[in-house]
Amino acid sequence: MADENNPNGGNGGGSGKNGKVGLVERVSTGVKEDIQALKTDIPTKAKEQIEGLKDPTKTQVYTSIFRHKHDDTPRNRALGVLSNVFLHLHPAKINRDAVRYSYTWGMGGITFYLFIILTYTGVLLMFYYHPSKVQAFRDVLYLEHDVPFGKILRNMHRWAAHLMVIGVWLHMFRVFLTGSYKKPREFNWNIGVLLLVFTLLLSFTGYLLPDDQLGFWAVTVGTNMARATPLLGHEGPFGSMLGMTPYNDVRFGLLGGSIVDANALLRSYIWHCIGIPIVASILMIVHFWRVRKDGGISGPAPVMLEAEADKPRRGPKAAGE
Ligand code: HEM
Repeated sequence: MADENNPNGGNGGGSGKNGKVGLVERVSTGVKEDIQALKTDIPTKAKEQIEGLKDPTKTQVYTSIFRHKHDDTPRNRALGVLSNVFLHLHPAKINRDAVRYSYTWGMGGITFYLFIILTYTGVLLMFYYHPSKVQAFRDVLYLEHDVPFGKILRNMHRWAAHLMVIGVWLHMFRVFLTGSYKKPREFNWNIGVLLLVFTLLLSFTGYLLPDDQLGFWAVTVGTNMARATPLLGHEGPFGSMLGMTPYNDVRFGLLGGSIVDANALLRSYIWHCIGIPIVASILMIVHFWRVRKDGGISGPAPVMLEAEADKPRRGPKAAGE
């Protein structure tokens, strides 16, 4: 039933003669208004789109890749880091004091960059090197004397290796001096110890590869030490009790035989170029991830007034101590 109080009738303005007229009038006014709006909107939108084409940051291609504006606000800077696959590996915000060179010595970062240089130059060296007794030393001579930029390539690899060993020790020393091995970073310290071992193993396995006298004797001495490994070496404690002989102990496994020869060269090569770099890379990923998860680089202790020193501290730093 129609509502008598409603001047438009009970079904939304459609009943009765006056109601019909009202509807027609309103529809035609609405249509006129829409046409009027389109007349002004279309040129404005077209103008905007043409302007947009002139400004590359307004094109659909650009906005589909970069999802936020480039204004220099703290929010946009954080978004810039978080929405980029490479940059998001870094934290959006860091403690300024924690990244001072005077605090970190930059040694963790330098060690990592040396590892990148080693990987890059190492892959290039693989194009020229064969891990066989006949070829290995010849390839080194070929690189030194005939390959264009071969000498610099080989020496970049050697020097980066020496520097990485020095860098990793200095990094460990700094972490020790700043007490950054303490709670909550104990686990990352242990990952670091493994990284140190793998860095040294990379150096050691690389030593044999030129197949020169230096490498041969270094590896002879190094692997002879493995004879004395507890349980696994034939001269080590309990080794003979477990049936270890020069032909089945850990040294035999490392060399692929009982003397430093062709098998040892091949095994060194595979450990050096594949096995150890893969494990070290995975450990580095865990190491960096943990630096983030442990609250970022530790940072120097905040300066406090003497009056504040006794008060209990609040915030994430307090939990980390
Ligand atoms: C391949 C070897 C290594 C690489 C590439 C590496 C890289 C890094 C980097 C980039 C950082 C950030 C802070 C900084 O640069 O000082 C860091 C922090 C740290 N590293 Fe290493 N690291 C390595 C080996 C080690 C070793 C040998 C240890 C200790 C045994 C260690 C323990 C730590 C700890 C505890 C932190 C956190 C320090 C803090 O929060 O102040 N790392 N590492």
